[in-house]
Amino acid sequence: MYLTKEEERMLDGEEGYAVRKSMEILVALGNIYGAERLIKVGSVQVAGVSYHNLGDAGLEFLNELAGDGRVRVLTTLNPAGMDLEDWRKLGISEEFAEKQNLVIDAFRKMGIIISCTCTPYLIGNLPRYGEHIAWSESSAVTFANSVIGAKTNREGGPSALAAGFVGKTPYYGLHLEENRVPDTHVDVKAKLIRLSDWGALGYCIGEDVQNKIPYITGIKDASLDELKTFCASVVTYGSKPLFHMEGITPGSEKHNPPREKVIIQDGDIKEAYRSINDDVEAIDLVCVGCPHASIKEIAEIASLLKNRKLSSNTQFWVATSRSMKDLADGRSYTATIEKAGGKFACDTCMAVAPLKGRFRSVATTSAKGCYYSRHNAMKTKLGSLEECVEAAVRGRWS
Ligand code: F3S
Repeated sequence: MYLTKEEERMLDGEEGYAVRKSMEILVALGNIYGAERLIKVGSVQVAGVSYHNLGDAGLEFLNELAGDGRVRVLTTLNPAGMDLEDWRKLGISEEFAEKQNLVIDAFRKMGIIISCTCTPYLIGNLPRYGEHIAWSESSAVTFANSVIGAKTNREGGPSALAAGFVGKTPYYGLHLEENRVPDTHVDVKAKLIRLSDWGALGYCIGEDVQNKIPYITGIKDASLDELKTFCASVVTYGSKPLFHMEGITPGSEKHNPPREKVIIQDGDIKEAYRSINDDVEAIDLVCVGCPHASIKEIAEIASLLKNRKLSSNTQFWVATSRSMKDLADGRSYTATIEKAGGKFACDTCMAVAPLKGRFRSVATTSAKGCYYSRHNAMKTKLGSLEECVEAAVRGRWS
């Protein structure tokens, strides 16, 4: 890979340890994937924040980089393993909190914004169309590539961090226009009524197309919350963090539907629910906000919880960014949700918090949330926001 004089100096360690390590990572990646050079990125989003996933080895790696590493571009963080302020309320142990705080201290020292959200585009890290970025949370990468039209590969935590320290990323993969051309056509004939139907659709398309880029037709309208839900699901059950949706995603008009075609019918959506849902009745945890809830979703939750009382057998968590909760505090949403017995889980989510062994079952609006909850040994129910609220009120799914 071609390096400029300045990049060579960085690789030689003239700008310190973190920059040298970062250049080693970026050059190795560039060589593996055949990149000709590095390109500047407008922003970075770093995953791998939960101590639950990092462990002591990860914390040590971060502390080494934090010695002299400072980010050069806007860099935000994915959810951590706990609510950074109200972690006790979520049942997090002192030992875990102490370690998680050390992780956050290291990121803070690097100059990273402690946003702890998988929806950075809702709170100020919003790239523009065509902008090169280096993001590493799969749902956010898919949203950035598809809904915004920015360009990013699905970075790992270390490669995103390296891009933050250098301000550049190798020019390969989804940064290149020729690798963003759709190669399969998905025609959606199914009706999508509830938010969770978009997660079920992501399941169907992800499972069908796997590593191909779908060109999706048949969808007339999609809200931001529906698109973010779909993004999380399609990349979880498939693997490509990019789709084109005719008339909805920017630039879709530049492409034609590929010849290879899959049709998604109502029966496929029903089948997705059957696959995602387990045979379980008692619900220990209801978690909404995957990806992190928008202010509109929080308003909807508040309106459904008004004058309701949640079951004492079930916890109800709203996962969101702290900035979004601040907005909710300014209205009556937070008070309404908490009065009903619900809790805000800011800065964290059901996939990265240490929940294994604490809850046996979860109900959620998110197909991605179900996928990761099964990894945490929980039985899962995917349903509409109304169904999730009812489950939390009754302590049972039906
Ligand atoms: Fe976000 Fe966690 Fe879901 S990172 S997309 S809330 S699993």
